[in-house]
Parts: sequence; C-alpha cells; structure tokens
Amino acid sequence: CIDAIRTRNEFVSCMNNIIPFTNTSSYVFTHDMPMYSSIVSSQHNPRCSNSTASRRPVGIVTPQNEIEIRAAIICSREHGLQVRVRSGGHDYEGLSYLCRTPFVIIDMRNLRSISIDIKKETAWVQSGATLGELYYSIAQVSQTHGFPAGICPSVGVGGHFSGGGFGAMVRKYGLAADNVIDAYIIDVKGRFLDRESMGEELFWAIRGGGGASFGVIVSWKIKLVRVPPKVTVFNVYKNMDQHTIKIISRWQHEAHKMKNELFIRLIIQYVHGDEDTAVQALFNSLFLGEIKDLVPLMNESFPQLGLKTKDCIEMSWIDSVLYFAGLKGAPELLLGNKTDPYVNYFKAKSDFVTKPVPQHVFSRIQEKFHQQKLVFMLMDPYGGRMSEISESHIPFPHRKRNLYNIQYLVKWEVNGVRASNKHINWLKELYKYMEPYVSRHPRSAYLNYRDLDIGINPRENTSYLEARVWGEKYFKGNFKRLTKVKSKVDPDNFFRNEQSIPLHQN
Ligand code: FDA
Repeated sequence: CIDAIRTRNEFVSCMNNIIPFTNTSSYVFTHDMPMYSSIVSSQHNPRCSNSTASRRPVGIVTPQNEIEIRAAIICSREHGLQVRVRSGGHDYEGLSYLCRTPFVIIDMRNLRSISIDIKKETAWVQSGATLGELYYSIAQVSQTHGFPAGICPSVGVGGHFSGGGFGAMVRKYGLAADNVIDAYIIDVKGRFLDRESMGEELFWAIRGGGGASFGVIVSWKIKLVRVPPKVTVFNVYKNMDQHTIKIISRWQHEAHKMKNELFIRLIIQYVHGDEDTAVQALFNSLFLGEIKDLVPLMNESFPQLGLKTKDCIEMSWIDSVLYFAGLKGAPELLLGNKTDPYVNYFKAKSDFVTKPVPQHVFSRIQEKFHQQKLVFMLMDPYGGRMSEISESHIPFPHRKRNLYNIQYLVKWEVNGVRASNKHINWLKELYKYMEPYVSRHPRSAYLNYRDLDIGINPRENTSYLEARVWGEKYFKGNFKRLTKVKSKVDPDNFFRNEQSIPLHQN
C-alpha cells in the first residue's frame, strides 16, 4: 500500500516536472480523487471489470494534447509502470483498461475533434472520437459522403481503426483501415510522428496490427467515400426451419458475389416473443442505391429471399447508420452514449468462412441455440472490394477467398463464476463444433473481436515462435512483418499486453 502511494506520488510529480505550468489534477486522476472510480469503470464489458487478476491503475491520464500524452509515456517508463491506451473502451477482453502489473491508463476521451475538408474528401479524426461522432460530423457537411467503418456508433476510432474495422460498406470500400491515409502517433521515446516521419512500415502496422503494440495514435487522416443521396435498407426475418436453411445456403453462395453496393448481413439469433420463443434468421441489408434498382437486382441474384418493395425503406446514408444501430430518431442520437452496449456481460469469438458450410450444420446450430438465451451468430459477407485488396496491403489479411466473417456472441444478465462459465463454455462448444467448416491452417480470427482463448503472450519476453499460436490467426503471414516493425520502433517492448506483437528476435 505504501509502495502504491509512493509510486502514485512519484508519477504525479514526474508529470508536474515535465509540464510545470498546468494543474495535473485536471487531467491526472488517482485513487484519492472522487472522479477516479467513474473514469476507471466507464465503457467496460462488465465481464472484464469483474476480473480479479487486474490491478487498479495507479493513475488515469485524460490528456488534452500531445504534450500530456508524451509526459504520461515518459513518466510511466521512468517509474516502471505499464501503459494501457483507451479510446472507446470496447475491447472485448478489456485490454485497454486491465493489467496485472502496476499501470497507467491513457484515456483519449478529451481528444475527439473531427475536422472535415469536403473539397478534398478527407478528414482528420482524433482517436477519442466515436464512430457515431464521425458519421454525424460527415453528414453535417455532406449528404453524399460517408465512411466505411463499424456498425455500433459508440465504438472508439482509436481501437477500431488500428484493428481494421468493418461495417455495412465493407464490400464497396473495404475496411476503415484501408481508407486511412495519414496518422499522428506518439512513440515510446515520446516523439510526435506523422506518416512521413514514422515511415511506411510503422504506418502499415498501425492500420490493422493493433495500435497498442506500437505507441499512442493521436489522430487519423481518412479518405471519405461517396454515398448516394438515397440508400435502401431492409430487415427480413425468417423463423429457422428447413426452408430458411436453404435460403441461408443460397446466401452463402451469393452474398459475396453480389454487386459491391449490396451488403446483406445474416444474423442467427434466439428471439423471445410474448408467448413463443424461436431461433430466427435476420437478413439485414444496406444497398447504396434506390429501391427501384434493388428489387430487380435481388430477384435476379437472390430470389430465394423473396424480397418485396414493401420490405425496403429509402433514406439518407446517415439515417441508415441509425437503422443499423437499432436507433430511432434524429442523427444527434449518434453523439450521446445512449448506444452504450454494456448492459450485459458478454463473450465473443470469430471465424472466417472460405467454403459454404453444409446445410445440416445450420440445423445443428439451431438446436444448440435452443439451449441458450442471448446468443447471436453474426455473419458479414466479404467479396467486392475486400477481394481486390492484397493480403499484405495492411496487417488485416482476410481478403480474397473469404466468403464471410462470423462473430459468435453470448450475453448474460447475472454474473458470477458459475453463470459466466456456463455461458462461455456453451460458446466454446459451438466454436469447437464449427472447426471443420471454417478457415484452417490457421483457423483465422479478427483482431477487433479480441479473443484471449486463441492464445496469449505468457511472458514479457515471449518469443515470436510462441506468439505465432495466436498471431498468425489474426494476421497470417503478416505477423512476422509486424514483429519486425515492433523490434524497430519499440525495442524494449514497453507497449505490451497479453496479445501485443512480440519482438522479432526473442
Ligand atoms: P478500446 O479503447 O478498448 O481499444 C481497443 C484496443 O486498441 C486496445 O488494445 C487499446 O489499447 C488499443 N487502442 C485504443 N486506442 C488506441 C490509441 N489511440 N492508440 C493505440 N492503441 C489504442 N468491430 C467492427 O469491425 N465492426 C463493427 O461493426 C463492430 N461493432 C462493435 C459493436 C460493439 C458493441 C462492440 C463492443 C465492439 C464492436 N466492434 C466492431 C469491435 C471494435 O471494433 C473493437 O472492439 C475496437 O477495438 C474497439 O475500439 P475502442 O477504441 O472502442 O476500444
């Protein structure tokens, strides 16, 4: 306890020494301050917050500028503290705010400015902004521009862009990270670097390789994309039966081959009605065009769904963002944290599918879904632009030959070791069952759906060979290159966590 107080005081006085004329209590929060607890626990998956393995941070720094980030890095290094960087705090395993050794959180909440240059069709966005704020800001200046990132508005730009990031425009425009054209990062030496000064290798690594292994990314320059003034959305629900399973089978063959403007996500979910419960398939779609063009297109390429004009709604792109997020109302809703997802405990896992899964597997999935309550299998089709980009363009390697991505998700309301084990074990069984039907050698996973079950770094100096167990699942052949970048930019492995990129030479 005395040690902890001493470390805390030393850290704060180090910050004061580096930035003497500011009041540290306005942006460094320690145990003894009333704001500490609320800032520590904001935006957490409650499953992770209950982790007993993690310590409480020595301090939380909420910087207003690069100088304060730099000071936090230098003082953490000087006093043997680890750093966790948090933007939106949505990490599935809590790696942005949990740590087993003494540490400091750098929380980017005050760095959330967005500046748009509509003539050049670019924007600078700071890491602490949410996707909702970004989408809203774009729509404020143009009804015909958008950005191809994730579906949930409360997700933070910092973690999302640095892990890849995809949403309903993935088939037309690829990942969020594919559309990043510059960035500012503060490295382990406290240097403030842009694309030119950081060099192409580090710039490559932070677009999909996870920012937390390389430094603190302050802001990103992105290329905006064009969207039509009217887009079309639909939700078609089908109870899971043999007929629906045939439709799903068709979807697997067609969804990745359709026009790039058409994205049809498939969600298998367990639904509780007033009197009845059922497993349902939801076909949830965005079309970058009008109903008059969508309906004939669907009749031609996917008639099995039986889409009718009355199923479709035309709206602006920004309204489609609200629609996908399940929000009803004005775009201002995207600004609040009303979209905070953490009402439930949850655990997720991911897969990539390269060959259509046989129909009998979906019958079995349906049976398995009857054993659980809040369960989802979200399937996002690839193809289109995703197939045109090479596997090594950025660290995210899941491109050509991938039909779709699966996210398996289980939620629960009451926590406790027994309750969570029951739900997590159910998810693990489903994941095991799917093994023969998904990508192999390695069985791939998506970094932004972080899953510590696929492997972790057991030690600070974990070797590249040991870390390949999990690293090649996320990054395939790009993992080795990531370790080389890591060795160059952070040779003492200061920026590390359970799944950070190890040094190449270890
Ligand atoms: P958080 O702040 O927890 O950061 C995640 C990781 O990035 C941590 O390791 C953190 O240290 C690091 N990091 C964050 N900011 C950094 C910075 N400035 N510099 C360096 N490192 C930084 N994904 C997707 O592709 N499409 C989707 O539609 C969705 N939807 C979705 C919905 C919901 C409800 C959740 C909880 C999650 C998603 N995701 C998603 C996954 C999401 O993309 C993923 O969790 C992101 O990493 C979250 O980024 P945050 O900044 O919010 O998280």
